[in-house]
Order: sequence, then structure tokens, then C-alpha cells
Amino acid sequence: MDIQNNISLKSYNTFGIDVHADRMVTYHSIEELQDFIRCRVADGDNSPLLHIGGGSNLLFTTNFHGTILRSAIADIFVTADEGDFVYVRVGAGVQWDAWVQYAVDSSWFGLENLSGIPGEVGSSAVQNIGAYGSEAKDFILFVDCVDLQTGDIRHFCAAECEYRYRDSIFKNVVKGRYAITHVHFRLSHSFQPNLSYAGLRNQLDTRGIHDYDLSAQVLRQTVLDIRNAKLPDPAKLGNAGSFFTNPIIGRDQWERLVAEYPEAPHFNIDPEHVKVPAGWLIEQCGWKGKTMGPAAVYDKQALVLVNTGGATGADIQALYQQVQADVETRFGIRIQTEVNVIGREK
Ligand code: FAD
Ligand code: EPU
Repeated sequence: MDIQNNISLKSYNTFGIDVHADRMVTYHSIEELQDFIRCRVADGDNSPLLHIGGGSNLLFTTNFHGTILRSAIADIFVTADEGDFVYVRVGAGVQWDAWVQYAVDSSWFGLENLSGIPGEVGSSAVQNIGAYGSEAKDFILFVDCVDLQTGDIRHFCAAECEYRYRDSIFKNVVKGRYAITHVHFRLSHSFQPNLSYAGLRNQLDTRGIHDYDLSAQVLRQTVLDIRNAKLPDPAKLGNAGSFFTNPIIGRDQWERLVAEYPEAPHFNIDPEHVKVPAGWLIEQCGWKGKTMGPAAVYDKQALVLVNTGGATGADIQALYQQVQADVETRFGIRIQTEVNVIGREK
């Protein structure tokens, strides 16, 4: 177990916000994590704990007075290989995209559309990451956890994780209670590309790539190229990807919106619900490419907020709250943060 005191979190969050934590504990095994928890319990230590991954979906608004936990569990282990499927247990500390690359290289198929998403495997099961028509939940069978209150081991099957669009039990009912140590995936030996997302299909057509000569590696590379053209690289411009989720509104509200804005993009979820891209709502409010001090709305994708240099969490917070208020005033829709805001709400 590695312990660092009074540590800057600047390199541990992709917004590049310079706050400090009292302590950071990095554990390398389930047993090390259990020892840490059991010592805390024995000492009656109730100070705050926050488990982070790669920090690519976090906004720190203040220093963190407590312990930041990080996983260095990074094994990839085949638990079964039966018929068309391979079952793989992956350590929470493995980089998500390294896992996708490993799977593609091993001819284990399914994750291609989720290529290039920053962060770690453990967080993928918290966030139910999604892109280009796929979501992590489509491949997760169950999740191994350690209870941060007792040190006990607990397994959640996919149904218990209550996965929905960018949501899971780990983001609400049991938020902060469990450390995910491993995620179990089921992948396929046969390549069946998911081309349901129009933007991905169009990009393949533009490149003259036909279904019959599409490989998993080409699909992965196409997704990476689309992402690189649209999303800022956190190493160059601090950001946490989409700052807000896309709102899902009722059919009645959608009918009123489309009557006023016939060009409004949308995805039908079911007969009663429609998803509206928050990026479009924000752009309509005139925010795309606008700055507010050292915080800005990215000029190529209005759903992404960026740190143009030296922004504090409060600077990003002031911008997101203004954007949220303007969208609500104009459209009557309250867009919700996808990013986990850590610290005081102003
Ligand atoms: P963190 O940001 O460190 O943490 C996220 C949450 O998970 C926190 O609540 C944290 O407490 C919890 N957590 C982390 N590890 C554990 C663990 N082991 N046990 C328990 N809880 C844990 N997301 C998408 O869904 N689709 C995208 O296309 C996408 N594109 C992005 C593009 C860019 C440029 C960036 C910067 C981000 C993007 N994201 C996207 C958001 C982000 O990459 C995902 O939310 C990712 O899963 C976060 O992983 P992380 O390891 O950085 O988690
Ligand atoms: N749009 C605009 N203006 C903008 C941005 C988007 O009008 O500035 C409209 C366009 O009509 C566009 C539509 O929004 O066609 C959708 O845009 P895009 O394909 O870029 O996707 P998104 O809805 O903005 C979501 C995810 C992304 C994911 C992509 C691809 C959420 C919150 N975001 O973005 O995830 O990569 O789809 O599947 O669901 C993330 O979570 O961090 C993230 C980047």
C-alpha cells in the first residue's frame, strides 16, 4: 500500500484543477484494501473517503479533507471460454482503452465502439460508460467489490447494478459505499459490428469501408478518429468529456419544443420519451466557444467545458451553473451534470 500525505490532485484529474487531498492511499490487492478498511474501523476513523480512477469525470471545487483511494489492481484473467463467448475478469485499475485494445488484439469482440474513452475499468462499471451505440452494461456480467464500511467482499450481478443511461446503483443508492476491485466481462469470439449510431456508419461510408471488409481494428480506429476530431485531449486542454448528460424529456414537452425548433436533433427512446442532445441546447443559447474567465465551452463540442489555463473548480462551477440556468430559462429543461462535482455546492 502506498500512502502520500498532503498531495496535489492536479495530475489526478483531467480538468487539471490544483487542489490538495490530506492523504492518498494506493492499494495493490484486495487484501491490502481490506487491511486499510479494517484499521480504519478499529481506529474509529470516520474521515471522508473518495475512491477515484483516472479522474476523467471529476470536478474538485475545494481541497479534499480526507483520504483519496486508488486501485493498482491491474490483472486481466480469463475465467471461462465456452462456445462463442469468453469470460474475462479485469482489474479495476486497468486503463479502459488499454483493455479495449487488449480485447481487440485477442479477437474478443464487442467493445470496439467504446474505444478511446479515458479512465479505468472500475469506473466503467460505476458510470456505465457509453459511446457510438454501445454501453459498458452490454458486456458486464458482474462486479466484485469491497465494502468500504466493513472490508467485506460483495458481488453485484449486472441486474443488481441497475444500469441505465450513464447511471448505476454505484452513482446513487450505494454511492461511495463500495470499492470496485474487478469487473467481469462477457465478450464474443465472433465479430458482429454495432453500426447503429448514424455518425459511425456515415464515417465508414465516407471512408469507403464496406461491411464485408470491416475488421474490429478498423472499427476501433474509426471510432478513435471521430473522437479525436471532436473531443479535446485532456493532456492539452483540461476537460472531463461531456459535462452534462443528454436530457430525456416527455413526448408532450418534445412536441412543444419541435413545434418551435423543427430542426432540433433528437433520439426516440420509447413512445413516451425523447432524448435531446444537450450540446444542441447549449449551442442554441449561444454558449459554444464562449469563455468565462479561465473556463470555456469547447468550440467544437458545446457539451464539453474546458480549463483554458489555471481555472479553479469554482471557475468551472460558475460557468456550468450559468449554462444550466440559461438552458433552463430558454427551453424549460434542467440539464444535469454528468461530471461528479466534489466539494461544496455553491
Ligand atoms: P473518475 O473520474 O476518477 O471517477 C468516476 C466515478 O467513479 C467517481 O464517482 C468515482 O468515485 C468512481 N470510481 C472510480 N473508480 C472506482 C472504483 N474502483 N470503485 C468504486 N468507485 C470508483 N464517458 C463516456 O461514458 N463516454 C464517452 O464517450 C466519454 N468520453 C470522454 C472524453 C474525454 C476527453 C473525457 C475527459 C472524458 C470522457 N468520458 C466519457 C468520461 C469519463 O472518461 C468516464 O466517465 C470514465 O468512466 C471515468 O473514469 P475514471 O477512471 O477517470 O473515473
Ligand atoms: N450537437 C450540437 N452542437 C454541439 C454538439 C452536439 O448541435 O456543439 C448536436 C448535433 O446535432 C449532434 C448531436 O448533438 O448530432 C450529438 O452530438 P455527438 O454525436 O457529439 O454526441 P453527444 O450527444 O454530444 C454523446 C455522449 C458522448 C459520446 C457521444 C458519442 C453524453 C452525455 N455524451 O455526446 O460521451 O462520446 O455521444 O456516442 O451522452 C462523455 O460522456 O464524456 C462523452 C463524450
